[in-house]
Amino acid sequence: MRAARWETVIPATARQIAGAVEVTDAEPAAAAALLAALNAAGIPATRATTPSGTAATVFFTEGLSDAPMTARHWAALTASSKARKSGATLIFLQQLAADTGLEGFTRTLRREWPDVSAACWTLVGRVQGDVIVNWIGRAQEDLWLSPDATARRVVLGQMVSPRSLTPATGGLWLVTGGARGVTATCAIELARQSGGTFILAGRSAQTPWPEGIPETADLKTLRGLMAAAAVKRGEKPAPATIDKSARAALAGLEIRATLAEITATGAEAHYVLMDTSDAGSVTAALAHIRQHFGPVTGLVHGAGVIADRLVEEKTEAELRRVFATKAEGLFHILSRIDRAALRHVGLFSSASAFFGNRGQSDYAMANAILANAGRALRAELPAAQVKVFDWGPWEGGMVDATLASHFKEQGVPLIPLGEGARIFAHELLAGDPSDVELIVGTVWSGT
Ligand SMILES: NC(=O)c1ccc[n+]([C@@H]2O[C@H](COP(=O)([O-])OP(=O)(O)OC[C@H]3O[C@@H](n4cnc5c(N)ncnc54)[C@H](OP(=O)(O)O)[C@@H]3O)[C@@H](O)[C@H]2O)c1
Repeated sequence: MRAARWETVIPATARQIAGAVEVTDAEPAAAAALLAALNAAGIPATRATTPSGTAATVFFTEGLSDAPMTARHWAALTASSKARKSGATLIFLQQLAADTGLEGFTRTLRREWPDVSAACWTLVGRVQGDVIVNWIGRAQEDLWLSPDATARRVVLGQMVSPRSLTPATGGLWLVTGGARGVTATCAIELARQSGGTFILAGRSAQTPWPEGIPETADLKTLRGLMAAAAVKRGEKPAPATIDKSARAALAGLEIRATLAEITATGAEAHYVLMDTSDAGSVTAALAHIRQHFGPVTGLVHGAGVIADRLVEEKTEAELRRVFATKAEGLFHILSRIDRAALRHVGLFSSASAFFGNRGQSDYAMANAILANAGRALRAELPAAQVKVFDWGPWEGGMVDATLASHFKEQGVPLIPLGEGARIFAHELLAGDPSDVELIVGTVWSGT
């Protein structure tokens, strides 16, 4: 496990660019200022509503526009596809804010488009055009640019060693996605270490187990048993109907098992229906929680979905689904709870946010937003422990048998469930508060 760290970057002396330069005008004032600064530096550049696909360097201002978060990131993604040209340099500008994550995109582009240079430059405060031009010689790197013309970049820090735990903290924990998948495993370990009341939130209902069917956790086996039982009753349900019922039964089983395991630790556990992607659903669930349990003191956001596809094939609906659950979902919650009452915040991100990953441009961006949102929360709530976990692949959850063997072939070790859960609970309860973003691989022992 390593923490994200910042290091100062020295500007390259060369400030010239060969070939045509374009600046997209999604944010017209920023585009005009940058064009003026480029021209003043002797670099001819033109404004483009849509990239021509012929420029050698393109600056994208989509990330600076005041469009809503998801639309802003989708606009940058679609504009990039139009600018693709072998050997081109694509520089995406964004303002440092809780709801920006274009660095997840450029990290992914560097994997999907190795023939292109892609960089995300995050402007920390009011950065003038001439400062941006000053960094042209470092156009292959994601940078944080400051108004005083200095720049930093994020790097992997030293290995973080586990700390000893503080005594139980108790409190009211809201864990999105906490009844199922790897977040459930983490919630159980957290309950063991901290105690308190756990509200697990998800979309699935607590569907009862079908009568007369022996319990199994295997979907294929359950489908077979349910189909056989239906035939015995003289029914002929469609395979899709059987599949839906079997999945619902398994979700109910998993939710009840997680609640029972948390209760067995001595903590209290409840389940609420909440779709994080739906503001109305979040409002209703939070009103219920406030009324029956009081203010949330610990927020764990584990809800997440993937919709993997390469950048040029990515659809807006897919990106919206991925953003809605994870990034929009976080802001739906944060804008509806008493943030001042928060003592712990744990956000489930992915290593793809830090390293990029083929097919995961939307997921990497949504997770990179979590890292920036976590840093903003840490600044807002200095007394709270805020941790963003950039997980590598786990032995469970989204990683099914097919994905697991794919990782094995690539030599990527999986995070064992028990080890990941311990890292999560220890870091959230007792980790160094200054380490907000943690990149977690397989190593817990600190070796
Ligand atoms: N497993 C890994 O290797 C891995 C690696 C990196 C990061 N992560 C992150 O870890 C988290 C958990 O992943 P997982 O592998 O356990 O995935 P999973 O097995 O697919 O579980 C996803 C969880 O999120 C909930 N969820 C999904 N959409 C939701 C929504 N709109 N509202 C509320 N809850 C929702 C699901 O419950 P319902 O279906 O009942 O809503 C379920 O509890 C995710 O954020 C994921 O991005 C996982």
